[in-house]
Amino acid sequence: MLSMSTQRKLLVTSALAYANGSLHLGHLVEHIQTDIWVRFQQAQGHDCLAVCGVDAHGTPIMIKAEQLGVNPAELTEQYRQQHLHDFNDFHIHYACYHTTHSAENEALTQTIYTRLQANGDITRDQIRQAFDPKKNMFLPDRFVKGECPVCHQADQYGDSCEHCGATYSPLELINPRSSLTGATPITRESEHLFFNLPKYGDFLQQWHQTGHVQSEVANKLNEWFTAGLRRWDISRDAPYFGFEIPDETDKYFYVWLDAPIGYMASFQKFCQTHPHYDFMDYWGPDSDVQLYHFVGKDIMYFHALFWPAVLHAAGFRTPTAIFTHGFLTINGEKMSKSRGTFIQARTYLNHLHPEYLRYYYATKLTNSVEDLDLNFEDFSQRVNADLVGKVINIASRCSGFIHKHFDGQLSSHCHQPDLYQHFVDAGQSIAQCYEDRQYRQAMRHIMQLADRANQYIDQYKPWQLIKQTSHTEQVQQICSLGLNLFRVLMIYLQPILPHTAEQVATFLNCPALTWEQRHHPLLAHHIQPFTPLLQRIDPAQISAMLDEAQSTSETE
Ligand code: MSP
Ligand code: ZN
Repeated sequence: MLSMSTQRKLLVTSALAYANGSLHLGHLVEHIQTDIWVRFQQAQGHDCLAVCGVDAHGTPIMIKAEQLGVNPAELTEQYRQQHLHDFNDFHIHYACYHTTHSAENEALTQTIYTRLQANGDITRDQIRQAFDPKKNMFLPDRFVKGECPVCHQADQYGDSCEHCGATYSPLELINPRSSLTGATPITRESEHLFFNLPKYGDFLQQWHQTGHVQSEVANKLNEWFTAGLRRWDISRDAPYFGFEIPDETDKYFYVWLDAPIGYMASFQKFCQTHPHYDFMDYWGPDSDVQLYHFVGKDIMYFHALFWPAVLHAAGFRTPTAIFTHGFLTINGEKMSKSRGTFIQARTYLNHLHPEYLRYYYATKLTNSVEDLDLNFEDFSQRVNADLVGKVINIASRCSGFIHKHFDGQLSSHCHQPDLYQHFVDAGQSIAQCYEDRQYRQAMRHIMQLADRANQYIDQYKPWQLIKQTSHTEQVQQICSLGLNLFRVLMIYLQPILPHTAEQVATFLNCPALTWEQRHHPLLAHHIQPFTPLLQRIDPAQISAMLDEAQSTSETE
């Protein structure tokens, strides 16, 4: 059970999106899931910080910058700014949104590498790789295309076949081509550096026996443990956009080595301007701060195997848990540029209220690794029926009477203390749902309470009572309780609807809505005039957004 009394220190991260593109609705599943959890923890009075940033390194980013004729550091900085702007408009808050291409990250990566070296965890070996003779560079698997050696489907990537699912090395493709120059890649040898992951196999297996991941993930990990861990190639040859490896020539750290270290770097950057936070208090081996990583299922491998092993080997603390989520589909299918369902965060914002997406994702999110679907009809219906029709409706029904007949003054008496207490008590299990990342369950519970509040108003019909002069005091009591119930609902919805919750605090003329506040109903209290908080979604807004998504995809 949740302990409400002790203050916890938490550090939470979302995965660092690559800095060569705009954020889309798929990324937002993760950032919204994280932000809701963080706001919930803060509303409980915990010291909870979220840090994130862009993942700036790697070949695709280097190539994109080259094609645009810009410096890769500048390109990634532009995307970092763009992401920040999108987050701001979605009310997603990070204590620091940094970049892996930073001085902090370079220093930490070097420290970690030096410690791994000192442990004897780094070995070297020659490997054979596809090399583009025209461009004079080694090609990542994804930059080689050719015919699948298994099913002979044409135009497949160098790592796996989308047609038959086979996995292979790019050197096995039939008629391989470099996607950069169209040249036929040749095979070339080069020396690479490896992290001895198998050495930490026992540590990892033990670590995973004590929790840290969801059961579905643990099952997958067991398959890998059974198959046997392999050492991890952590170097790449020049040209590469990344950090140079000390004491080597023309060798760079592989992007996936320094990417998670970016979590530490982002927190360190935050500490520079917040001196009462201490880096080693959070990352030292004896840290009692809870550290949580939210990630998508495609990158769980990096976070559940390499990352804890690297941290442990380098003498830092390991994560408290890794929370893995599924992928977003739109109208039942993978997001697709040709179907016009590859929707950027900005395209959505141009047409729809950010909190509608936060709410809709919340009604879908559980703590499982299952994919979730965004269906636009369902989306409009949920928002219109639940948020506007049930929740906001309570305030608009009650506030008119309070202003018109009672000069904005709430009753000094609680009309039905049991009903109010019922709403307050529900906070315990709703909090548990949030804590467990069972947002869907939390939303169901809150909407049942909203139904209950509407039933209460329907039962007493203040619009009839007000016609009988002998009952005016009762009308004030009923509408006051209605508004107090609404306030409790908004306390529970605050992690989902932070902006609306702020507006409600202004309207109700009360302090910010924290979980604790629900114990203190507003009695004999003056409120501000009601201004409409959330409007219904018009189907035209959705079609306009989809049209824009289609044309954005075409011009890309
Ligand atoms: N740069 C790496 C992460 C490094 S973390 C140390 C990366 N970047 S990404 O931009 O491809 O993805 C960032 C996050 O967004 C990942 O957790 C990924 O799973 C998530 N998503 C990307 N597309 C998604 C969906 N369609 N649906 C849900 N999440 C998705 O991986
Ligand atoms: Zn195939």
